[in-house]
Formats: sequence, C-alpha cells, structure tokens
Amino acid sequence: MEQRSQWGTRAGFIMAAVGSAVGLGNIWRFPYVAYENGGGAFFIPYLFALLTAGIPILIMEFTMGHKYRGSAPLSFFRMSGKKAEWIGWWGIFVAFVISTYYAVIIAWAMKYTVYSFNLRWGKDTESFLYGNVLNLAETPGQAGGFVPGVVFPLLLVWLIAFIILFAGVKRGIELANRIFIPTLVVVFLLVVIRAVTLDGAMLGLDAFFKPDLTKLLNPTVWVAAYGHIFFSLSIAFAIMITYSSYLPKKSDITNNAFITGFANSGFELLAGIGVFAALGFMATQANVAVGEVATAGVGLAFVVFPQIINEMPGFNGFFGALFFLSLVLAGLTSLVSICETYIAGISDKFNISRKKAVIIGVIISGSVSTLFATRGGLFFLDAADYFINQFGVAALGLVEVIMISWVFKKLGTFENHANSVSDIQLGAWWKICLSVVTPIVLGYMMFGLLKINLLKQHTDGDGNVIGNYEGYADSFIMAGGWSVAIFALVMAIILTLFKWK
Ligand code: PHE
Ligand code: NA
Repeated sequence: MEQRSQWGTRAGFIMAAVGSAVGLGNIWRFPYVAYENGGGAFFIPYLFALLTAGIPILIMEFTMGHKYRGSAPLSFFRMSGKKAEWIGWWGIFVAFVISTYYAVIIAWAMKYTVYSFNLRWGKDTESFLYGNVLNLAETPGQAGGFVPGVVFPLLLVWLIAFIILFAGVKRGIELANRIFIPTLVVVFLLVVIRAVTLDGAMLGLDAFFKPDLTKLLNPTVWVAAYGHIFFSLSIAFAIMITYSSYLPKKSDITNNAFITGFANSGFELLAGIGVFAALGFMATQANVAVGEVATAGVGLAFVVFPQIINEMPGFNGFFGALFFLSLVLAGLTSLVSICETYIAGISDKFNISRKKAVIIGVIISGSVSTLFATRGGLFFLDAADYFINQFGVAALGLVEVIMISWVFKKLGTFENHANSVSDIQLGAWWKICLSVVTPIVLGYMMFGLLKINLLKQHTDGDGNVIGNYEGYADSFIMAGGWSVAIFALVMAIILTLFKWK
C-alpha cells in the first residue's frame, strides 16, 4: 500500500478548493444569470442559496472527506456500506462526463489566447467561430469527423492535466493551484480594471446592478440561484469529498468551507463587474441597449468578447489575450479537480497506485473527450452540459442531502466531527438547512425540470413553446442528453457491484 497523499499546507488546500470552484461558470455564467434574474435583486436569492445550501453542503462534504479519508465512493462506503457507495460513484461519473467536454472549452480558450494578438477572428466573429474554428456540422446529431484544429490543443490540455495529476496531490495539484490561482487573480483584475475604464462601462454596470425586486416573487429566480450555486461551488459531484480526504487530521473544516464559498462568490462578483462593464462599452459602440448584447456561455466568450476586443482602443490584443488566459487558468484548475475524483476512485477501488490510476483515468477521459472535437461536437457539448447539470449535479445534490440526513441519519455524527476540529460551531441551523430547506427547494426544482423536459415545454426567448431543450429533435435529446445522464447512474451501480480490492 502506498501512503495516502496529503496537502502540504492549509493554504494549499484552500487554493485547490478555490481553484476547483472558480471556473468558467464564474466568468461566463454567473454575470448573465444574475442579470437575467433580477440584477441587483438577485443577490438576495443568491445569498440565500449560498448560506442555506452552498456552504452547508460544502461543510458536509469537507466533513465526509476529512472523517472517512477516502475517494467519494470509499467515503460513502465507510459511512454506510454498499447502500451508500453508489452515490459516490454517481458523483464520479457525473464528474467524468463534465471533464470530457470541459477540456474542449479550455482548448478553444487556448486557441483564442493566441488569436488575440493579431485579432485573427476578423470582423465576423460568429462565422469565424462556427465556420473557421469549429467547422460546425449542419444539423445536431451528425458527428462528421474530427476537427484537427481543435483536437491538437485538446491534446495539449490533457497533457497539462496529466502532468499536474501525475506529479501528485502536493507536488502537482497543490503546486499548480498555488501558481495558477494568484496568477488568475492578477490577470483577471487587469481585465476588469481595463473594462471598467472603457466608454459606456457605467451603462453596463447600471444594467447589471439595477435591482428588479418584482423578480423575487418569481420562483424560477430562486431555483436559478440554487442551480447556479451547486455548479459554481463544485458541490455534489465528488470533488470536494475527494479534496478534503487529503486534509491532515487537524484541520478546521467549517472555516475552510466559509473561505472557499466566499472566495468563489467574490470572484463571481468581480466577473460580473468586468463582463457587464465590457458589455456596456459594446452596447455604447453599437448604439443599442445593454440587454441586446448581454448573453452567456460560448456566445459570450467566443463571439461577443472578440467583438469587444476588436473595438477596444489601445493594447486590445494584449487585453484579449489576458481575458482568454483567464478562462484557460480558471478552467485548468477546475479540470484537474474533476479528474482527481475518478483517479482517487479507481485507485481506492482496485487498489492500484495513484500513478497508474492517473494514466488510466486521463487516457479514458482524454479519448472520450475527442468526440466533442468533431464537427458535431458543439451540439453534443450543449446537450451533455444541460442534462448532466440538471439530472446529474442537481439530482445528485438532492439525493445526497436526503440520503445523508433522512436515510442514513448522519448529520449528528458529522456535526460532532466538524465541531471537534473547527472554530465555528455548527448547530441546529446547519441541520435544518440540509434536512429541510435544501431538499424542499431542490425537490421543487427537480419536479419542475422533469416536467419541462418530459412534457417538452421548453420555450424560446419570446415565450413560444419549442418542445425539447433548444428545440432539438427527440432522437438527439435521447442520444446526447438523457443517455448521458442515465449513463452516469448506470455506471455508478455497476461499479458498486465490484468488490473492493
Ligand atoms: N465550479 C466550476 C465553475 O464554476 C464548475 C466546475 C468545477 C466544472 C469543476 C467542472 C469542474 O465553473
Ligand atoms: Na464557481
């Protein structure tokens, strides 16, 4: 048996946890989610979700990893045997799916970092992305062959992840985060400072912060806050259990959870300011309302931002490179954290060395991820992302809190464990959040999601019913959506059936 890995310092663990939490979601998802769901008023449901679900679950997962000192499935197994082990594997397979497409986005961001210097994308940034870069297939569901221009940077992303993971928890993951996270903060701050000094920045900030209090009456706003918090804090998919299993015995759990949670939110807020300042500039240049240019995800980062960079006065290529470098750094530290879930899982379950597990894990996920570097890759990525977030991360979060609080009844044990090592003492509020508040909100959310997807009630921006998610065909939703979510669950059960070596 090799000795179990450990973090070198407390700061190292926090950097790694923050590195996992701070990802593409903070930069390209949060600003738009907040804007769309009440602007300044969104901070109320957001804080509510952070304090009643985000941080309490983070504390719970840190406690589990610290107490049982194992990968997610091993920790659940040590907690309550095979009846619980599958939950850990489910998290691992959700993480596996996410890692396969997340790496592809990092690969695009790498390309765009280089493109920034000579504004390679030209005037029509949209056809540059979908045509020149992705060579996108005509219809969803067509794979249509590999796109070499994406496959090569993708291999580079996996090579970097491999090197970090292979070097170990302390000399690889911790060291990388200690370098990447401070660099990310500096680089991103430069981008934000530049953005808020652009013409029209105030217009964007106005749109971002203007509170629409009527939105608070709308349940979807609260659900949006919950959904975002889960993804943003990397909770409920095995990551934080794995990372905290490498904590030394004497580690303050509750404090670490608060620091991680607030650091992630701080970064999100910063991103909201930077992104909307830049959007305000763009709206001013184009003489339109901020709402017309505000968007999220791939469109924001790879279509709208290149346009903003085109229009920026002075050193625009340089600031463009800094923006895409931010995406690369934020993405890489998150990618490493998801890969670590299955590396730890394989190594525990089959009793193989960490190094072997890294080789096996990266080869499998790296190979699968090339499927998203095909001409149909963006469609599959979009569907997989939607389904794995709703019926992977959120569903798993619901199952996890219900099982731990009501079926296995472990909250009391966890409370004692966390309190024995932490300054801030947990009390009734913590247990009520996990056993009552979170299950009710997440349960309501899951019910709504199942309804909208099974009854095909998705709507477009104008409220017209378009059927499936994004109006995709049934066959594609089955192949690229449901089957991906179900795959994670089925694989979890299969792995649980194997014996521990
Ligand atoms: N917390 C990440 C984010 O906000 C989400 C994530 C974590 C995605 C780890 C993948 C892997 O972007
Ligand atoms: Na995040």
